[in-house]
Amino acid sequence: MTTDTIRESLKGKIYVELGEIYCVHDEGYPWLPNGSVDLVLTDPPFNIARDTNFHTYEKNTINSFRFDAEKGWDSYSPESFRELLNNWAREFFRVLRPGGSFAIFCADEYISDLISALRSAGLKPRRTLTWRKPNAVPVNRKHMMMSACEYVVLGVKGSKSVFNSDIPTQPSQNITDSEIIAIADKASTVLDLEIRKSLANLNRRPSPQEIEAIVSSTIQSLAARAAKRSINIYSLDGKTAELCVPNYVSFNSKAGNRLHPTEKPVALLRYLTELLSNEGDLILDPFSGSASAGETAVLTRRRAVLVERDQEFFEKGSKRISKLTEELDNELLM
Ligand SMILES: C[S@@+](CC[C@H](N)C(=O)[O-])C[C@H]1O[C@@H](n2cnc3c(N)ncnc32)[C@H](O)[C@@H]1O
Repeated sequence: MTTDTIRESLKGKIYVELGEIYCVHDEGYPWLPNGSVDLVLTDPPFNIARDTNFHTYEKNTINSFRFDAEKGWDSYSPESFRELLNNWAREFFRVLRPGGSFAIFCADEYISDLISALRSAGLKPRRTLTWRKPNAVPVNRKHMMMSACEYVVLGVKGSKSVFNSDIPTQPSQNITDSEIIAIADKASTVLDLEIRKSLANLNRRPSPQEIEAIVSSTIQSLAARAAKRSINIYSLDGKTAELCVPNYVSFNSKAGNRLHPTEKPVALLRYLTELLSNEGDLILDPFSGSASAGETAVLTRRRAVLVERDQEFFEKGSKRISKLTEELDNELLM
């Protein structure tokens, strides 16, 4: 879809146009043309604020999620929330082009409802990615497991979607050598066998150094095997392993200086964007909050339509994008 067509469809709307990023202050996007979007990347309300005590945590502490109950954007009855999921899924189907992809954040308790809504709308949910948050805040530690993960339902409209399996899976922070290997399904089986073989005669727990030595030599032999078969290899700090794209990732959630109570880390959005779309593609985030998906689109050379109904978040998001585009423009001029 060309930029002119998008601009035309936005005529008369309240929107901020920043390069190829359109920040729109609206609820819904009936004005967006059918089949115009390459990737829906969005983090809609989870409907979990009601079930937690987050709003009772003191403001500006590490436990403060600062859900603003008065805004009411994250508390619906389960029935009306399911109804909303169905409405959202129908709109995703309408605006996605054939072969376009979606990545939709979701809390665990509504994953099956979201998947059903997407299927009913004609979309094909393919995988649910688990996002592990190493810096999750341990609330309710005496009564329940901490909530250290969020989920992203991934899929496609039709078939032949973009899947750039060669991009680096994740930054080296928060991930150990063993995990790098474990993300490759085959590699983890081989690694397991190697460790068992090497330790068969050892009548004690291996030291961390012994384990790392086995991991390193196994990585090297896997890399040699991969190179022989000229298949994709994943490289990090000079180490390589066969590449499988895992259905889990590990990224710290945004801590401190948040523009939005549920702000998503750009590193995670960047990973999803580069995996599921190409440069120049049009991304839609209809629940854009502080415009994290917009920042990601700028940094990865995609275009984006960002829709946010809340005036305060809309303004914060628009400012964030204009500041970033200005900074990048200045860098180019220097
Ligand atoms: C989970 S937050 C998104 C946060 C965003 N990912 C970020 O990084 O800042 C969901 C956003 O959707 C907005 N929202 C909720 N219902 C909406 C609706 N029906 N239409 C448009 N925006 C809505 C809320 O105001 C909220 O800012």
